[in-house]
Amino acid sequence: MSGFHEMNGELCADGVPLSSIAEAYGTPAYVYSAGEMKKQYMALSGAMQEYLPADQQPLLCFACKANSNLGVLAYLRALGAGLEVVSGGELTRGLKAGFNPAHIVFTGVGKTRDEMILGLTSGIHQFNVESVPELIHLNAVAGEMNMKAPIVFRLNPHVTGGGHTKISTGRKHDKFGLDETYLKQAFDMLPSLPHIRCEGLSMHIGSQVSTVESFKEAFEKLPGLVRALRAQGHSINRLDIGGGFPIIYKDEKLLDLSAYAKWVRDIISPLKVEIIMEPGRYLVGNAGVLLSRVLYIKQTPDRQFLIVDSAMNDLIRPAMYDSYHAIEPIKNRHLPPVSYDVVGPVCESGDTFTKDRSLPELSAGDLVVIRSAGAYGSAMSSNYNTRPFIPEILTHEGTHTCLRTRQTIEEIFAKEHIPNWL
Ligand code: LLP
Repeated sequence: MSGFHEMNGELCADGVPLSSIAEAYGTPAYVYSAGEMKKQYMALSGAMQEYLPADQQPLLCFACKANSNLGVLAYLRALGAGLEVVSGGELTRGLKAGFNPAHIVFTGVGKTRDEMILGLTSGIHQFNVESVPELIHLNAVAGEMNMKAPIVFRLNPHVTGGGHTKISTGRKHDKFGLDETYLKQAFDMLPSLPHIRCEGLSMHIGSQVSTVESFKEAFEKLPGLVRALRAQGHSINRLDIGGGFPIIYKDEKLLDLSAYAKWVRDIISPLKVEIIMEPGRYLVGNAGVLLSRVLYIKQTPDRQFLIVDSAMNDLIRPAMYDSYHAIEPIKNRHLPPVSYDVVGPVCESGDTFTKDRSLPELSAGDLVVIRSAGAYGSAMSSNYNTRPFIPEILTHEGTHTCLRTRQTIEEIFAKEHIPNWL
């Protein structure tokens, strides 16, 4: 059995009962299923294998920001993934997790000098450059090091994709990428920038993009642009077409991967370029759950609160994006439903996972999972309310491994100082 499944009436991950994980590591804890990650990786790479020629198979650069645990990264690397990073910290993680630097791409609108130096000395595949000032800065830094920085320019295609305004990145008013006018200006500057080696273009229109049409609209801007740039003597060898593949949290429409792969074949493939993609959520989102224990059931005149031991500092998505996450008991999964507001112990009303959710009746002490928490869950967690980072556990073929132990309160204090004049 792989992924999350029921066995003897209990929810399990890759054959491991979740209650045994709670017993071994305590709650709250993130649990990741290696089986589910592999299934997703194979579905995406399989769709590409089916439709794209063997010599044009894309490098699937996992978006590290979605889940940057070293163990998760190493697992995806073992499956064949490359890595997309947005900071020196993520780049260092990637190297530590064993990624070949030639499979790492560095995106982001605010790369610092130190991050540029790290990228250059590590020999990464490319910097995805997002502005003219960044381009000039990178040329100067590479010049000091007597190197040439491999880059692609990130195009802002002015396309609305992305399931929520906070995660759309390809619209005119977004901070990301260069729109066509600035892009041309940047290409025109290249002859005067001896420490830049431009290899092509990139784009990423947003997250949870559920219609092939949004991708198609963005892709269709590429052939004309690539031809025009080539006609001006620029070499366009690579196209990094970003991530944004959606997962189901509730009842969203899934992207038709075959249709997507066909658009890549029909629109991108004829351009004879190396293809890169940057999937994040798709590979890990539904491979993770936040395992939590019910602390109290609190009745008020108005409603019934299910107070669990995980909170917004562990999983901020509902508070930040009003996002829906399925919630399920581990055992007694089919009792008659009761309506609950599921909340954590943090001291704000925003610490609410859901309101008025109909769930099988629960009691204090029961275990529940908050699902679809493998992407942007742990990676966005904080120590708010001085709550330690929680363990991350990987299940694999009936076994479980701790990928991160629970932080201690002393570890939280370790970097803080009381002034000696107090
Ligand atoms: N490439 C770039 C340049 C990105 O900025 C992102 C995500 C990705 C790839 C991966 O996107 P994905 O395939 O995971 O959709 N915290 C938000 C999501 C922020 C996404 C930021 N960029 C959330 O929890 O929904």
